[in-house]
Amino acid sequence: MRTEGKRKHVFIRTYGCQMNVYDSDRMADVLRPLGYALAAEPEQADLVVLNTCHIREHASEKVYSELGRMRDLKTERRAAGGDLTIAVAGCVAQAEGEEISRRQPAVDIVVGPQAYHRLPQLLAEAERKAAILKAGKRRPGAGVLDTEFPAESKFDHLPAPLGVRAGSAFLSIQEGCDKFCTFCVVPYTRGAEYSRPAARVLAEARQLVEAGAVEITLLGQNVNAYHGEADDGSTWSLARLIRALAGIEGVARIRYTTSHPRDMDDDLIAVHGEVPQLMPYLHLPVQSGADRILAAMNRQHGRDLFLDLVDRLRRARPDLALSSDFIVGFPGESDADFDDTMRLVEQVGFASAFSFKYSRRPGTPGAALDGQVPEAVKSARLSALQALLGRQARAFNESKTGQTVPVLFAEPGRKPGQLIGKTPWLQSVYAEGKPRLIGRIVEARIVEGHANSLAGEIVTGSYEAAA
Ligand code: 5AD
Ligand code: SF4
Repeated sequence: MRTEGKRKHVFIRTYGCQMNVYDSDRMADVLRPLGYALAAEPEQADLVVLNTCHIREHASEKVYSELGRMRDLKTERRAAGGDLTIAVAGCVAQAEGEEISRRQPAVDIVVGPQAYHRLPQLLAEAERKAAILKAGKRRPGAGVLDTEFPAESKFDHLPAPLGVRAGSAFLSIQEGCDKFCTFCVVPYTRGAEYSRPAARVLAEARQLVEAGAVEITLLGQNVNAYHGEADDGSTWSLARLIRALAGIEGVARIRYTTSHPRDMDDDLIAVHGEVPQLMPYLHLPVQSGADRILAAMNRQHGRDLFLDLVDRLRRARPDLALSSDFIVGFPGESDADFDDTMRLVEQVGFASAFSFKYSRRPGTPGAALDGQVPEAVKSARLSALQALLGRQARAFNESKTGQTVPVLFAEPGRKPGQLIGKTPWLQSVYAEGKPRLIGRIVEARIVEGHANSLAGEIVTGSYEAAA
C-alpha cells in the first residue's frame, strides 16, 4: 500500500472532549512503533484518523462532511498511483459502526474508543483487504470494524505516554458512565464506568512528570466517581488519589474533569481546601436549575443539592472558580423552568460555562419524550443564558486586574513575541515573553480582563525562580 522503508505519516483530527484529546495522543503512541510520524495536514498523511464526537447531532454530522473530503483526497491519491487509509475512531465509530462504512465506503477502519490499542492489527487487516482489492479479486466493501468493549482493558495494552504539551498533560483515570442522564449518549458510546488501578495512574503521572509535565489534568466522563483498586486491595477515591498525586515531586498543578454533583463527597470537598496543588477551578455540570427538569433528565439530584455543594466548596476554597454545563430546551422545559436556570446562574456566579441547545439523540430516553421544545424557543433561551454567563465571565476576568498570579505558559500567541498561558482559574493570559518560558510557571501581573482572556505582563525576574 505504501512504499516500504519510507517514513509513514498519520494525521489525527480530534473532535469533542478532552478524553478524545487524550485518546488521540495515545493513538499516536500506538502508531509510532509502526513507523508513523505525525503529519500537520491530511495532504501529507498516509493514514488519516478522525477521532469523533457523538454528543450532539451537529458534532456527528461534521464527521460525515469531513469524510467526504477525505474520500476526494483518497481518489486523487489513487489516480496518482498512491493511497490513503481512512480510519474513524471515537464515539461516532462506537455508536454508528457499520453505518459509517455504508454512508462513506471509502472508510477503511472503524474503531471504537475501547479498542484503539488494536489499531496495528486493524491496519494490517485493512492493508490486506486493500491488496486483495487492488488485485481485482474482491469487490469494494465494508472496511475493518472493531467496536467491541473488550474484556481486557485498553490501558493494559498502551505504550508509555510520550506527548506532554508545554508542561501540561492529560491523564485518563476513569472512563464510561453508569448515570444514564436521559439526554446523553455517553453510557452507550463509552460503556460502563471503569476506574484504572491507583498504582497505574501514579506510575503514568511519574512518567508524565519525567517527560516535562508540571500540570496534570485527571480525566474521566465521571471522574469524581473514581474508585480505583489499590495494591493492598482497598479502593481509592478521587480525593485519595489527588493527595497521593500531590506527593509526587514536580507536580505543581492538579486539575480534574468532568464531575457529577452526586459524586462530590465531603472528602473531595475537603481536598480542595487542603491540597495547594489542586487548582481553584471546578467544572461541575448542573444542566438545569429546575427540579422538574433535573428529574426528567435523571440527574439524581435537585437544585438545592447543587447550591449546597457550591456553598461547601467555597467554604473549603474561597477563591474557587466555578464552571458548568447547561442544556436549554430539554423536552418539557417551560418558561418558568428556564427562569429557574437563570436564577441559579445569578445565585452562583460562574467564572465560565458551556451551554447548549438540547439535541435529540437517537436511542436515548430523552428522544422519545413528549414536549420537544421548538427550535426558535431553544435559540432565544440560549441567547439569554449565554448573555448572562458572558457577563459573569467578563466580571470574573476583570476581577483579576491588578493581581499578580502564576501563569503556566503553553504556546506562542498570535502576535510575534507573545505567549499564551493559563492562570490557576483556567483563564487564558496573553503576555509578551520569550518562547523558552513555554512549559513553565511564571508570575504575571494582570493588566486587563476581557470577555474570554486576560492581558498580562510577566513580572521581571520571576522566571529565574520558576522551576
Ligand atoms: N444535547 C445537548 N447537550 C448535550 N450534552 C450532552 N448531551 C447533550 C444533548 N443531547 C451536553 C451536557 C454535557 C456536555 C458534555 O454536553 O451539558 O455536560
Ligand atoms: Fe452523560 Fe450524565 Fe454520564 Fe455525564 S453523568 S456522561 S451527562 S450520562
